[in-house]
Amino acid sequence: MATEEETTDSCVSVEATYSSIQNHVLARSCTSCHGSQGNVSLESYSQVVSGTNSAGNRVVTPFDPSNSRLYVTVNTGTMPLGGPALCNAKIQAIRTWIENGAAND
Ligand code: HEC
Repeated sequence: MATEEETTDSCVSVEATYSSIQNHVLARSCTSCHGSQGNVSLESYSQVVSGTNSAGNRVVTPFDPSNSRLYVTVNTGTMPLGGPALCNAKIQAIRTWIENGAAND
């Protein structure tokens, strides 16, 4: 599977905070499809932490990445749909942010 280059600026500078993930991951790779409409809206903190997929599974479960579709779908490469998988630094930033409680930081 093709993967985003680890050396791109957004891979090098991503941090395990909501604001960094929003800027480096969600706004770049997700919100073109996941705007403010529909179940999985990824444009704001409140949407990200309150959303569920169509099966009722939470987009983010604080402290529990394996029950967070935001993490699971990028870790498996299911998302971003049709694009290269995220670089490992971004996947790990999402995991760590959720493990730390998914604060609005
Ligand atoms: C090209 C459009 C597109 C892009 C870009 C995209 N998605 Fe999706 N996504 C979809 C569609 C369409 C669905 C509904 C698929 C389904 O569940 O049948 C979906 C479903 C989802 C779901 C719910 C399904 C599940 O398995 O829980 C999550 C979570 C998700 N996307 C996260 C993301 C994330 C995170 C990104 C960015 C890294 C992203 N998506 C990028 C189109 C996209």
